[in-house]
Amino acid sequence: MVKSHSIHVCRECGTNSPRWVGRCPGCGEWNTLDEERQVAASKSAVPLQTTSLRDVSDDAAQCTSTGVGEFDRVLGGGFVEGSTTLLFGEPGVGKSTLALMTLRALAQAGHAVLLIAAEESPAQVAQRARRLGDVPDGLDVAATTNVADAEQLLRERRPTVAVIDSISAMSDDTLSSVAGSVPQVRHAAERLCAVAKSTGIALVLVGHVTKDGELAGPRALEHLVDTVIRVEGDRHGTLRLLRAMKHRFGPTGEVGLLEMANEGLRELPDAALKLRGADLDVPGVVVTVTNDGSRSLLVEVQALVASGIGSPRRVAHQVSSQRLALLLAVLEARCTIDTSGADVFVATAGGLPASEPGVDLALALAVASAVQHFAVARTMVAVGEVGLAGELRPVTGLARRVREAHRLGAEAIIVPAEGELDETPGLVVHRCRSLAEALMVARNGTL
Ligand code: TYD
Ligand code: MG
Repeated sequence: MVKSHSIHVCRECGTNSPRWVGRCPGCGEWNTLDEERQVAASKSAVPLQTTSLRDVSDDAAQCTSTGVGEFDRVLGGGFVEGSTTLLFGEPGVGKSTLALMTLRALAQAGHAVLLIAAEESPAQVAQRARRLGDVPDGLDVAATTNVADAEQLLRERRPTVAVIDSISAMSDDTLSSVAGSVPQVRHAAERLCAVAKSTGIALVLVGHVTKDGELAGPRALEHLVDTVIRVEGDRHGTLRLLRAMKHRFGPTGEVGLLEMANEGLRELPDAALKLRGADLDVPGVVVTVTNDGSRSLLVEVQALVASGIGSPRRVAHQVSSQRLALLLAVLEARCTIDTSGADVFVATAGGLPASEPGVDLALALAVASAVQHFAVARTMVAVGEVGLAGELRPVTGLARRVREAHRLGAEAIIVPAEGELDETPGLVVHRCRSLAEALMVARNGTL
């Protein structure tokens, strides 16, 4: 027998209360309690059985390819039967496009798929689908925001893969909390995840994030789902990254690279990020090689230093502003490169995020090259973490970074003195102990 009762949950801190109260007993905030339905199964008459792990078959490896190579890459092959994947990102980044591309490719491959559109009408979805190319047979859409209807449809149709776009718009009208509130979204996700598990449907939930990058509903869905994929990218740029933040069936941290084009998201071969020719050398631009998942990417760091009026401005785009502040201080203290009083702008070309410590050296060199008006050859790549004493610290995965930089067209690379490297014939490796040494190499091509 299944009993159901309501509790009230604070949307700020998650504290439960059996009754509605005006002030949360946990965090003291006013009017933050929402009703949540709890379904509790009564005691089962059959005693619980145990199973030897040796006898449990390991069929979790059964994956359905998404048909989008870069998506498969972050998922470690594709969707696992009965699993739930949360696809989240800022509005306009391309979640609906990616979800539709995936369903289209799956339908083309003969899989049963279903899109539950909670935000757009079938006509709007069809318009988007036509932009992607021919619309295959079996690419079915149902428009609803009602979680019970969605649940019933999933049970009846039992598609291989279903997408709910978006989970934030799904609600249960028997709950008193407003549609879109944390308890509604969590309740809807819980019910739909349970359907996925019991029917074997691979379910994709599309989720929104607020401006500060939090999942709408303070990370309320992350623990419910098996996999969390973030779609990253600058909405005004074309580059998009897929990143596995949580993955029950494979490694996390893997990145996929896509490019937003007129006909949807295109897979981006690494070669597209190859180094461009030396004729483009300008002061303030230094290329680095990052370590992201099992991938190394060439990222161009750009700096502009201008005489400011009034209090100096520091603007960092896609790199950490704290790191920038620290590096400006190190440049001043250890290399006598003074930017106090000047406006400093730094960014990465194409909007690729570069937030790991290995980017430090390129960032510092880019600023130095902008201040001192010398150009660093584009075929010279720099990687290393910069310490407060101006020393160059070792970075993770140095050998792979160097290999990849070489493969993508680097002719020389500045690296920290420590760290194992393979032989790379044709690539000049400059080992430097400090930022000051690296600066000398960047300026003169040698120590
Ligand atoms: P969308 O998938 O709707 O974003 P989200 O679901 O994350 O909010 O895509 C948003 C942008 O992508 C939109 O501004 C239009 C653009 N776009 C293209 O450039 N090409 C395309 O083929 C499609 C479908 C969308
Ligand atoms: Mg959308």
